[in-house]
Amino acid sequence: MCLSSSIRWVIGLGIVGFLGSPTPAFSDADLAAGKDAYEANCARCHGPTGAGDGPDAKRMFPKPRKLAEGIFKFRTTASGTPPTDEDLFRTLSTGLPGSRMPDFQRLSEETRRNLIAYVKSLSPIFKDQAPEPIDLGKDPGPKEASLAKGKEVYAQLGCASCHGTAGRGNGPSAPTLVDSWGSPIRAANLTQGWNYRAGSGVKEIVARMMAGIDGTPMPSYADALSSKEDAWHLAYYVHSLQETPHWNRTIEAVKAAGSLPADPEDPKWQEAPRTDLRLSSTVYQQGEIQPTSVNAIGVQAVYNEDAVLFRLTWQDPNESREDPPDAVRLFLLQDRRLKFQVGSLRSWPAGPDAPALDVCSWSAKQDSAREAEQMLESNDSEITSGAASSSRSQDSYADGVWTLLIKRPLKSFHPGGVTLSTKKPFLFGAVVFDGGNGERDRRRANSNWVDLVLK
Ligand code: HEC
Ligand code: HEC
Repeated sequence: MCLSSSIRWVIGLGIVGFLGSPTPAFSDADLAAGKDAYEANCARCHGPTGAGDGPDAKRMFPKPRKLAEGIFKFRTTASGTPPTDEDLFRTLSTGLPGSRMPDFQRLSEETRRNLIAYVKSLSPIFKDQAPEPIDLGKDPGPKEASLAKGKEVYAQLGCASCHGTAGRGNGPSAPTLVDSWGSPIRAANLTQGWNYRAGSGVKEIVARMMAGIDGTPMPSYADALSSKEDAWHLAYYVHSLQETPHWNRTIEAVKAAGSLPADPEDPKWQEAPRTDLRLSSTVYQQGEIQPTSVNAIGVQAVYNEDAVLFRLTWQDPNESREDPPDAVRLFLLQDRRLKFQVGSLRSWPAGPDAPALDVCSWSAKQDSAREAEQMLESNDSEITSGAASSSRSQDSYADGVWTLLIKRPLKSFHPGGVTLSTKKPFLFGAVVFDGGNGERDRRRANSNWVDLVLK
């Protein structure tokens, strides 16, 4: 069975290459095996009949696809035509980062193939229409590709109207975009390659532009592009916008030689390693997982005898100075074991017995004193507060990026607060609010707990 079906696949793939349309024969047994695997692995999100109504579906953004509808986003085929089996195989094998669609590496290749057979049986589009694979042209290679030309094409085709000039997902049309199912949708932040759904490589970007992303406002540019070469120049340019993230579970604060850095551009920051923390949305009572607009925050830290200075940078599609303002809260925990009592920052504030948290809080509000505040909080009520510090000149917003310095005295002003020292690691967490992103729970994005070490 295993052998025969893989032989059939080899033949099927041969036909793909030859005729340009896949016609692998699936036996009834493959289909039945696919159905079983679907019920075990997919129905909880996509629903038993592929209507997108599984029990877990309402907790997600974007919603699990209504597979029975036959609209597929990530194809290498002409807009409006179904994906190839290889497109579906890719989606199953790598998942869709930035969404809740997991990868299914743990299932055998044969099971994934059977699943594809079953997924295709859910929608009539696969019977009614053959996929039309797009000729992506030839990769000129990084040496021949022209980023300058790519940049020009990016401007000409109006990519910036959604994705923003620097690709940060903050173009003028971005706030109003809606998908084919009536949900708000974000233009991808092109600088965050790790968050692309269907691959951040140059070839994948060419495919996205040529095929469009059906079901979303992003059209196919197959006709608008004056040549295939331009598609590759553009894709190399988009690829060059991606920034390498510095994921880490530890933030290393370095000892300042002399005084603390004076401002965010002080060359002393080059000595402080940067740690990027991924942010995700809050799971709140209704159980809905709302879209966050801020996906990550970069943290650097420098300390001296008196204080630790944090340099924070994060991408937010818009600057909100007024109600509700953009805001950041940094959380410190002295005793790492308390983590289990406090829970994750996603579900904080935790139960009545959870210890109070030591918080540094900053808001972009224009008329506030501009001082970050240090306080102890429990269950959303403030116990006491005092000054940390961040002066007006130390926060700035430019083209989708916030940069902020927060200075926190090593010693808490409150006896129950955290006093930082070089003796042991502390726990650190960050919560970022995007004031411009709808109702309260939607605005808040949380990191996990990580270690903060004063070296
Ligand atoms: C935990 C929830 C979850 C599970 C389990 C899940 N999916 Fe998905 N799936 C999603 C979400 C969410 C999307 C939509 C992502 C988007 O729109 O960007 C999606 C999208 C898809 C797509 C559409 C891809 C495209 O190009 O538009 C396919 C096909 C798919 N899933 C197949 C499956 C199969 C087959 C399984 C089981 C092996 C499965 N999914 C399991 C959540 C899930
Ligand atoms: C009308 C708005 C709009 C325009 C114009 C637009 N896009 Fe997009 N683009 C989107 C949206 C929305 C998404 C996110 C789709 C999703 O998350 O399902 C996206 C996603 C992407 C992605 C990420 C694909 C992935 O795998 O996640 C790339 C790359 C991209 N666009 C490139 C471009 C380029 C290059 C142009 C110009 C040729 C362009 N886009 C023009 C709206 C647009």
